[in-house]
Parts: sequence; C-alpha cells; structure tokens
Amino acid sequence: MTSIADQTVEELGGPSSVLVRMRREHGEQEALLQRLEATSGDAQDEVLTRLWRLVFTHAYAEETVVWPAIRAVSRDGDELTLHIEQGHQKLSELTAELERTRPGDPGRGELITELAAELRLDIREEEDILLPRLREGADDRRLRRLGRAWALVRSTAPTRPHVAVSRRPPGNLIAAAPLSVLDRSRDRLDRAARDRSGRVRSGAEAASWALARVAGAIERSRLVQVGERARTRPGRWTVHRWLTRNTPPTSDQSD
Ligand SMILES: [Fe+2]
Ligand SMILES: [Fe+2]
Repeated sequence: MTSIADQTVEELGGPSSVLVRMRREHGEQEALLQRLEATSGDAQDEVLTRLWRLVFTHAYAEETVVWPAIRAVSRDGDELTLHIEQGHQKLSELTAELERTRPGDPGRGELITELAAELRLDIREEEDILLPRLREGADDRRLRRLGRAWALVRSTAPTRPHVAVSRRPPGNLIAAAPLSVLDRSRDRLDRAARDRSGRVRSGAEAASWALARVAGAIERSRLVQVGERARTRPGRWTVHRWLTRNTPPTSDQSD
C-alpha cells in the first residue's frame, strides 16, 4: 500500500477528506516540534501548550472518528489501531510527566526529546501503515464525510493528556465534555500566568492546578475507563503519579 504521504490531494479524496486534513495537521505538528526544539523558558512553554492542544485534540478525533472506521473496513484494523493507541498512551504519559516540570528542571530536556521522537513515530506509522487501509476501504464520499466529523470532534475535544481515560468508546466519549471544558479553562489560565508576574501569576497557576485536580477526580471514575483494552491501560507508576501527585510545583521549583 502507498503511504498517504506520497499521494496527491485528489488521490486522497479532495481537500476536505479526512486523510488530507490529518496529513495537514501532521505537518503542523512537525513545525511545532521544530520550534519546540529551538526555544527555551516561557517561549518553549507557550509552544508546548500549542503543541499539546493540537496533538491531543487530533488524537482524540482519531480514536473516536477514524479508528472505528478503519476497524470496519480492514481485517487487521483492530490490531493496528490498538498498536497506535499504545503509542498515544505513551505520548499522554510522557506529556503528563512533562507537565509537572518547569523550564530548567533536571530531566525536562530528555522528556521533550522522547516526546518528539514518539510523536514523529506516531505520524509515520499512521501515514505509512494505518491510513492507506482507510484509503483502500472507503470511497471519496465516505472520506469527506469522515473529514467533516473529524473537524467537528476536534473542535470540542480535550486538549490535555488524560492517561486513565479509556482510549476507546464509550469511556472516552463520556469523558470528553467535562474534560474539554476543564482543559480549555486551564489553557487560558496558563497563558495568563505566562503573561503576568507576581501574585497574578501565582493565582493563575494555583487556579490551573485546582482544575487539574478536578480533572484527576473525573479520571478516577470507572465510567470513563469503560472500553479500555488491557494493552493501553496506564502503567502502575503512571496511575500512582498522575492520580496522586496532582499537586502544584513546590516554591523551590519556581525559578
Ligand atoms: Fe496519532
Ligand atoms: Fe495523527
């Protein structure tokens, strides 16, 4: 099968096809990765927020709209989408870990390097192995319909990693609305914190972490874990860290 990276827009079903939309966003992710690797401090934090917002809304729309369609048209779709979901789980776990660090913290650079490598691997496996199966199994009309569904889901999806939420329906569908509201509020607070200093900055940071704890409580609900396959369950260390260490960075990490 031909990688979707090597096919024209027309061969992929036209500009509104889900395959064209996904490929375009992969390009945006790569551009942000390059900016991430070229910046530091608050500027790097800003790029990270933009990258997370793009990556996690993108992955959520893949898991709820595109992977079920691939499972319906491809005999090896279940195994292949599960493999990609494992990569998404690793990306979520790495990002959750990174979210608890500040610029200059030991180990932060290594986490960013690992995150970039994992994201680039995800893009290659999707474009070269998984998405050609959807091109073979669906006509242009279906690809455009999926493209519209994809865009709609992306615009309302959670923007942050939620490692304990199921990567498959129904758990991820149940979790979407409350986590999306919390994530998008946190994005605004974090941006406000970066733009200010002193008490306003620490107030915005504290409010963001309070919302993170609410998100952690939602993740602990069994309802949002329904549908999870054993291979994408978070590792014990992740559950322990993510569900019990949702606390603000300590003051000695603030500079
Ligand atoms: Fe992906
Ligand atoms: Fe993707």
